[in-house]
Amino acid sequence: METNLAKILIIEDNDTMREGMAAIVGKMKHECQSASNGVDGLKLMAKKSFDLVVTDYKMEGINGLELLRQIKKSYPPIEVMIITAYGTIELAVEAMKLGAIDFITKPFSHDEFKLKIERLLERIQERKELARISEENIYLRDELEQQFNYSEIIGNTKAMQNVYRTMQKVAETDSSVLIYGESGTGKELVARAIHKLSPRKNKPFIRINCGALADSLLESELFGHEKGAFTGAVKRKQGRFELAHLGSIFLDEIGDVSPNMQLKLLRVLQEKEFERVGSEETIQVDVRILAATNKNLSDLIQQGKFREDLFYRLHIIPIYLPPLRERKQDIPLLVNHFIKKLTTAMNKPAKQITEAAMKRLTSYHWPGNVRELENLLERMIVLSDQDVIDVWDLPILQMAAGSEMLPNDLLDRFHLDLNAMLAAVEKQLIEKAMNETAGNKSQAAKLLGIQTSLLYYKLDKHKIISN
Ligand SMILES: Nc1ncnc2c1ncn2[C@@H]1O[C@H](COP(=O)(O)OP(=O)(O)OP(=O)(O)O)[C@@H](O)[C@H]1O
Ligand SMILES: [Mg+2]
Repeated sequence: METNLAKILIIEDNDTMREGMAAIVGKMKHECQSASNGVDGLKLMAKKSFDLVVTDYKMEGINGLELLRQIKKSYPPIEVMIITAYGTIELAVEAMKLGAIDFITKPFSHDEFKLKIERLLERIQERKELARISEENIYLRDELEQQFNYSEIIGNTKAMQNVYRTMQKVAETDSSVLIYGESGTGKELVARAIHKLSPRKNKPFIRINCGALADSLLESELFGHEKGAFTGAVKRKQGRFELAHLGSIFLDEIGDVSPNMQLKLLRVLQEKEFERVGSEETIQVDVRILAATNKNLSDLIQQGKFREDLFYRLHIIPIYLPPLRERKQDIPLLVNHFIKKLTTAMNKPAKQITEAAMKRLTSYHWPGNVRELENLLERMIVLSDQDVIDVWDLPILQMAAGSEMLPNDLLDRFHLDLNAMLAAVEKQLIEKAMNETAGNKSQAAKLLGIQTSLLYYKLDKHKIISN
């Protein structure tokens, strides 16, 4: 379910109210249906699936609570929000106990209703995602581990399974493969795996970062040079294409190659031959081409920066690696994989991660993709001596991800000012502890896990008034 495309059913006997709410939901671009009583509502649910039912409590026939009971019995995945009247808090409590996701108290404004629906849909989506993750985890443990573990590539989502299928098919061939994906999505990993799966696996796999070298250097790196071909060419050198003979060459960052070098590459791809710099002798090679880029080559072609003919030579088989934020269900698998791999490599005892911490890591959007996740876990494992990784061990950005306690507005307010944010969080926690213990400082200090004397100091520092 996309939060911007939810299916919502409104059940309310007051025509003006019902139409008003339906109009708001419709404007939010959600699919909305409505009914004026519980029986009609249930008929609609029998025909069609909904993500959320918003129902009034006081209605002729079935009231909102009875309706909630029936929905939870017959259609458990549907979430229900009850509309209650002002001053009926027990009713709201009862509704929550029966499994309502939330309630809203009449009268409410247009904006209040809209905000409530937005928040609810976010929560519903999060719930669904977590349910899916735990299912997939069980699935993986049971049978998929070997089947879908190509040379350390972790991931079990549809998108990754497609990648594995393509890899398996192309591995047997000599076709060129172009691997796309944002930075850190595993392009190099996939290129190496294709080589390992291919009949060329016992021959060299040669990588060259085309983006890192100036033209003249790149040319001699790729094709080699004769002694004296240019200043500094003190002896003859074999290029990467020659070194990769009978194996695979991995042209990394192919989107960064200059037009001049593109032309030269095109020739090798077409004729499988080239000359060393400063030589007339034509060298023939049998090389499998793998290329990767995090650029959008179609855009580059449109801008005249990338040759279309070279593109078609490389693009014989494209493989697209989705960003991690589009396959969040893979995050728990990756986290467990990296924890195991890193603790073993560092000779550290095994570590567990709490569900809450895993949830935050899963909610984070990972702009640096798998590499960022791996680096973060590495830092945490190096720095921490605990056997369990909890929410509090996470860096602030990941800690804040998807949590209500450290909402985005905290981030908006402090940007990346770590000290200011930590101070704000500290103050919030201390106030909470003081409230919970009705101002008993030694108890509050215990809750906070600090010395009472330190609490005195901090109360003073944050100017928290206490008796
Ligand atoms: N699916 C995966 N399973 C396990 N490890 C992964 C996966 N994807 C990436 N990694 C790890 O993340 C790191 C980055 O991967 P890789 O170098 O292949 O990314 P890339 O797409 O080539 O990035 P860039 O565009 O920045 O070069 C590597 O350490 C790699 O082992
Ligand atoms: Mg790379």
